[in-house]
Amino acid sequence: MRIVKIFDTTLRDGEQSPGASMNIGEKLQMARQLVKLGVDIIEAGFPIASQGDFEAVQRIAAEVKGAIIAGLARAKEQDIKRAWEAVREAPQRRIHTFHSTSDIHLKYQFRVSREEALKRSVEMVALAKSLVDDVEFSPMDATRTELPYLLEVVEAVVGAGASTVNIPDTVGYTTPYEFGAMIKAVKERIGDRAVISVHCHNDLGLAVANSLAAIINGAGQVECTINGIGERAGNCSMEEVVMNLATRKDFYQAATKINTQEIIRTSRLVTRITGIAVQPNKAIVGANAFAHESGIHQDGLLKEKMTYEIIRPQDIGLRRTELVLGKHSGRHAFKERLSELGYELTAEEVETAFNKFKHLADQKKNIFDEDIEALISEEVSKIPEIYSLVDFSISSGTSTKPTASLKMNINGAVVEIVEHGDGPVDAAYKAIAALTKTKSNLLKFEVKGITGGTDALGEVVVSLEEDGKTVRGNGADTDIIVAAAKAYITALNKLAARKKQG
Ligand code: KIV
Ligand code: ZN
Repeated sequence: MRIVKIFDTTLRDGEQSPGASMNIGEKLQMARQLVKLGVDIIEAGFPIASQGDFEAVQRIAAEVKGAIIAGLARAKEQDIKRAWEAVREAPQRRIHTFHSTSDIHLKYQFRVSREEALKRSVEMVALAKSLVDDVEFSPMDATRTELPYLLEVVEAVVGAGASTVNIPDTVGYTTPYEFGAMIKAVKERIGDRAVISVHCHNDLGLAVANSLAAIINGAGQVECTINGIGERAGNCSMEEVVMNLATRKDFYQAATKINTQEIIRTSRLVTRITGIAVQPNKAIVGANAFAHESGIHQDGLLKEKMTYEIIRPQDIGLRRTELVLGKHSGRHAFKERLSELGYELTAEEVETAFNKFKHLADQKKNIFDEDIEALISEEVSKIPEIYSLVDFSISSGTSTKPTASLKMNINGAVVEIVEHGDGPVDAAYKAIAALTKTKSNLLKFEVKGITGGTDALGEVVVSLEEDGKTVRGNGADTDIIVAAAKAYITALNKLAARKKQG
C-alpha cells in the first residue's frame, strides 16, 4: 500500500491561529506527542520570526527524536541561515523555504516579476541544499498561479535540489476537482524526482477534500494540523485526512504511519494548550462524533455496531477510563497513568501533580483522565512561578458584600490583602491585581465542568492582555472560585515570562 507522509504544522501554521500562541514548554510537549502520534515531519516553527520561535525550533531539534524537524524560511538568505541554525542539531532535519508565484502576490505584494521570483526561488533552494540534504520548496498561492508558470517553477526548484515540492492552497480557493488536476499536472512534470506535498487552507471548508483529491492524483505528503487549527479558517485537519485514508483504504489505496489511537489524546492536548475548543459536531474528535442520539440508531447499534458506526471509538483512542486510584493510591500508578496519557514530566513535576491529585482525591470519588489532564496543565506549560496562591477564602451570598481574603507568595515573599467586589470572582481578581501590582485586561473568562456530578472538577480559562501581549491561563479545582483565582495567577505568570522573553 502506498504510504502518504504526514507533515504536521500545528506548531507553525497552527500557531498562527488567533490567540493560539504557545510557549517553549508547551511546544516541546506538543512535539513529543506528535512523535507518539507517528507524524513523519514536524514543522516546529518559523525561526526568523522571533527569538522565541528560534529557541523553540532549536530546542525541539535538539531534544525531540523520531521525526524530521523542519524550520520555515522565506526565500531569503538570512531566513534560510537562521532556519539552518535552528534545525541543525536534529538527527533528521529539513529547511522549508517558500516564495509566492501568483501574479496577484508578485504584482501587489512583492512587486517582482515572474522571472525574478523564479530566479530567487532557485537560488534560495540551492543555498538551503548547500546546508542540508532535505529541502522543501513551496510556491505560495500556487492555486491562483498560472499553471505553465507554476510547472516551470516546480521543475526549476527540483533541479536546484528540492526533494519535496509543496503546492499550497494558501487562501483556501481551490476545489477538489481543480486541485486534483493541478497535482496530476505537477506529477506528470516531475515524476518521482521529488515528493509532491499539499498544504490546504479551509476558507471554503474544503481543505480535507482538496488534500484527498491531491492524494488520488499523486501527492505523497499532506501538510495538516491537529484539530485543523491555523491561519484564518485553519488548515487541513490531520485527524480527518488520516481517518479518511484509514476508513476508506479500499478507495484511496493509501495509508499513513499515524498511530490513530493517539488521535484523541493529541487533539485534547492541542485544545488544552491553545485554548481553542473543538466544535462538538466536528468529524473524528468532536464531543458528539460518536454520540448516537436517535432511537433507531441506538437500536441498530445495540444489535450490531456496524449498522451506524464506521469508525470504532477505540481506534482513535477514545475511552473513558476511570483512574482506579483513590486517596490511598501511590505515586507509581499515578505516574504510569500520566505516561499512558502521553505526559512526560520530570520527577519534580510528577511530585507536584501527585500532590494535586491527592488533594482532588480527598474531594472527589471518581477521577477521570480529563480531570488529570486539567490538573497537570501548569506542569505541562512549564511556566516559572513568580506568583502563587498560598491561602484564599471568599464570603458572598444574597446579603453579603463579596469579600476575598487572599494570601500570595510573590517572588518568595508572602503578602496578604482583603478586597471587596461586585461578585466573588470580581473580589478575588481585584485582590490578585492589587497584590501583584499588575494592570492586565481580562479579555475572556470561561467556566466549564470537566466531568459530571456536583463534585465535578471545574475549570476556568481566562485570557489576559497587557502591553499588547495576550496569554491564556487555566486553573482547575472542585471550587470554581478557587479555579478562577488559579487561572488568573497562571495567566499572570505567563505574562511575566513573556515580558522577560521580550
Ligand atoms: O499557506 C501557505 O501558503 C503557507 C506556506 C508558508 C506553505 O503556509
Ligand atoms: Zn499555510
